[in-house]
Amino acid sequence: MTTINLSSSAAAEISADAIVIGITRGADGPQLAAGASAVDAAQDGTLVATLTALGATGKAGEVTKLASSAAVAAPVIVVVGLGEPGAGGSIDAEQLRRAAGAAARALTGSSHVVLALPTATVEELSAVAEGGLLGAYAYLRYRTQENGAKQQPVQTLTVVSALDDDAAREALNRADITSTSVKLVRDYVNASPSDLCPETFADAARQACAPYELDFEVLDESALAAGGYGGILGVGQGSIHPPRLVRIAYRHPEASRTIAFVGKGITFDSGGLSIKPADSMITMKSDMGGAAAVIAALIAIARLAPRINVVGYAPMAENMPSGTAQRPSDVLTIYGGKTVEVLNTDAEGRLVLADALVRAGEDQPSHIVDIATLTGACVVALGGRVSGIMSNDDALLSRVHDAAGRAGEQMWPLPLPEDLRKDLDSDIADIANIGQRWGGALAAGLFLKEFIADGVKWAHLDIAGPSFNDGEPYGYTPKGGTGAGVRTLVQLAEDAAADRL
Ligand code: BES
Ligand code: MN
Ligand code: ZN
Repeated sequence: MTTINLSSSAAAEISADAIVIGITRGADGPQLAAGASAVDAAQDGTLVATLTALGATGKAGEVTKLASSAAVAAPVIVVVGLGEPGAGGSIDAEQLRRAAGAAARALTGSSHVVLALPTATVEELSAVAEGGLLGAYAYLRYRTQENGAKQQPVQTLTVVSALDDDAAREALNRADITSTSVKLVRDYVNASPSDLCPETFADAARQACAPYELDFEVLDESALAAGGYGGILGVGQGSIHPPRLVRIAYRHPEASRTIAFVGKGITFDSGGLSIKPADSMITMKSDMGGAAAVIAALIAIARLAPRINVVGYAPMAENMPSGTAQRPSDVLTIYGGKTVEVLNTDAEGRLVLADALVRAGEDQPSHIVDIATLTGACVVALGGRVSGIMSNDDALLSRVHDAAGRAGEQMWPLPLPEDLRKDLDSDIADIANIGQRWGGALAAGLFLKEFIADGVKWAHLDIAGPSFNDGEPYGYTPKGGTGAGVRTLVQLAEDAAADRL
């Protein structure tokens, strides 16, 4: 794990493998960002001319490496592009987070890296720290020794800042906590689905929660049957690995209310008997990204200790075709008694979520937020980097959107049009699990809405696109599991604690 520390020493004097500075993209070429001046002075003020000669522009994510002069203690200067400044030359937190992440990725294999990026405010300092930590990630579980050794992430990050008061140290600590949780999700998502089935996922979650003040409960297949959790059991019945429902509770002694998080935990989604085409199945080990985000968010919340109660549910199942699998047209009874006709076994996420959403309602939360890699339609609508937000409450919708923005996660509101609900009518049961073809993300949201207890404000995050990056790495986002959603969930818990939800 990468460690991070703060230094108010002169940047050029800190011994390290490399020192990172920032440049922005100006109208007349690259410009040095705040934090770079000490290094530039040690280079006799030649940095802009050198960078211009090398063709550096300052565009976001651009990385240029230079050998330093003897006046800089680190032998290498890494210059990272922050992109174009906003109005008044401002650089926003996400630009900093991404630049720090791109620099950390470019320095894979280094033991000590100094970040001399803009850190004039606590917000900037947080962003630099969080981006650097999130960029310092590699998934090495399955690499043999010699292969993995070359890919070790940066071991120590030193953030240079004139701020070194309690607020600065708290910001660094928070960045450490959130990024550790994000990386836990990446590890779970990247794991081979043969190593992460419902039982092993639930065991891993129990182990990960054990060091913190969290209540941890898991329902196994017989407890699920006794409790009447027909959705989770129906989806899981085709697999040799039985399903689980994990419940994790964080309590603050002075909390006045409870919020609930519910995350989809399909450890592999083959589609079941409504089987997916081969190409669509390849990334389906990531179909537990919502459950992983809930587990990891609860860990971060326990460490940050906001004044709120948070309960997290992670329904886990493997969706497989077999002689015991559920059939298209089977009718299930969801926890609490509503019946569902399963017209397509590949619309399984909503079935496991339905059980968990009803169960979450029994904790009497003021708000429920679910998070799920739910629909390909959401990826069609918003692309691979933006999550959809749906809600039964417009004020909550905009607050979740705002929280995501502050956390540095791209999300966008989608509607829940009542006229699509009739397409989910079943000929024989209370509801069917699919509607007509168009607006699939919204139909899934409308299905989930049926399982929310009266009076509970609910938001649904469809992270099907952002949870897994099958393209090239960018900013602090690696290939593979990204950890999408964790930072927003943590932000929401903090907002709820501050009565801002
Ligand atoms: N896990 C998938 C959704 C998904 C697709 C996640 C692509 C990430 C990337 C989900 O279970 C699913 O299969 N949804 C179906 C629903 C359909 C059958 C109504 C889909 O989106 O095609
Ligand atoms: Mn599916
Ligand atoms: Zn799925």
